[in-house]
Amino acid sequence: MDNNCKNPFVIGRYLSPDYFCDREQETAFLEKQIINGRNVTLIADRRIGKSGLISHVFAQPEIQKQFYTISVDLYATGSLAEMVYTFSNEVYRCVERQSKSWKDKFFQIISSLRVGFKLDALTGSPAFDIGLGDIAAPEMTLEQVFAFLEAADRPCVVAFDEFQQVTRYPEKNIEALLRTYIQRCTKTQFIFSGSRKHLMTQMFLSPSKPFYQSTINMGLDPIPCEIYVDFAKRMFILGKKTIEDEAVRQVYELCRGITWYMQMLLNEMFTITNPGDHCKTGSIDEALRNVVQVQEPFYREILAALPTKQKSLLFAIVKENGVENITSGAFVQKYKLVSASSVQAALKGLYGKDIVIENNGKWYVYDIFFAQYLSGK
Ligand SMILES: Nc1ncnc2c1ncn2[C@@H]1O[C@H](COP(=O)(O)OP(=O)(O)O)[C@@H](O)[C@H]1O
Ligand SMILES: [Mg+2]
Repeated sequence: MDNNCKNPFVIGRYLSPDYFCDREQETAFLEKQIINGRNVTLIADRRIGKSGLISHVFAQPEIQKQFYTISVDLYATGSLAEMVYTFSNEVYRCVERQSKSWKDKFFQIISSLRVGFKLDALTGSPAFDIGLGDIAAPEMTLEQVFAFLEAADRPCVVAFDEFQQVTRYPEKNIEALLRTYIQRCTKTQFIFSGSRKHLMTQMFLSPSKPFYQSTINMGLDPIPCEIYVDFAKRMFILGKKTIEDEAVRQVYELCRGITWYMQMLLNEMFTITNPGDHCKTGSIDEALRNVVQVQEPFYREILAALPTKQKSLLFAIVKENGVENITSGAFVQKYKLVSASSVQAALKGLYGKDIVIENNGKWYVYDIFFAQYLSGK
């Protein structure tokens, strides 16, 4: 095992193909679309592995050889200026790594960012020193960033991650603006990924919207159970430990196969297994307790911030472990939830905060560890 990696179940970043589970078909599909010059929309639930897949595709030798790759995480952006700031920052980081001649053009082409142009005292080359406040004319900077990408000596692939955020910016017509610039690009390609299915679907699949039918769509399902079993066993062996098949299967069931939860639990199970030992199903409870404990302060705050009706509904959903007819009289009565319309309103609130999710007609608490925390209350 790599010295930089003390635990083979990596969380929150992409380390290398060695620690990445499967996604072979999805990787081949996405890679093929990029090589064939198509833009792609990737829509799937949170934490299933979209960003990981994009990193993995970007790490493929053929992509590395032909393209410059840029990932822009829009999750925390709340305005066009913030978007442009994040975007230009990522573009600069990419050129810094990849191409000296192209880098020299950065402040020439993106002249609206000259304020941040300084020569590094040691190396004499340009340095990027821009703050959000320096984005004085976001539209102009945005146009220039796209022009800069088009001027590269290789085509660029830009992944806008959590792209649905742009619909929440206060400025009007952002989608149309972006669409205009994106359409003008002849060399640069795009991946639009997003977790908010509803917003993403509206953007890309409703005829009245600027992005309608402009991309190839793909979704992402959980990694199949038996593939995860093989992967987990391989990772344990890499760390000179072993794990029982059945333990991985139970973890899979508990996590509904969602990658982030799988990785979190397996990471902890790896940690609590002594070198040379065999990890069995009996470790799951302890691992789960440990993981939930770490998240507890955060969960407590989420819970405290909820209005009473949402709290009651949340506890009811946890008790049922998947609710089918959520506004039915039986469910409303069983948990004394006042009325169907009151449930409807509370559900909207919980859904808006990403706390609950509908899957195959049933409502769940999305975060498995949060559900675990709630069930202990
Ligand atoms: N195929 C995979 N194998 C191993 N870990 C993965 C894989 N895909 C994602 N991960 C990890 O799972 C977590 C959630 O994945 P992420 O790509 O961030 O999900 P999303 O972008 O869909 O919210 C991250 O910690 C990521 O590192
Ligand atoms: Mg992501």
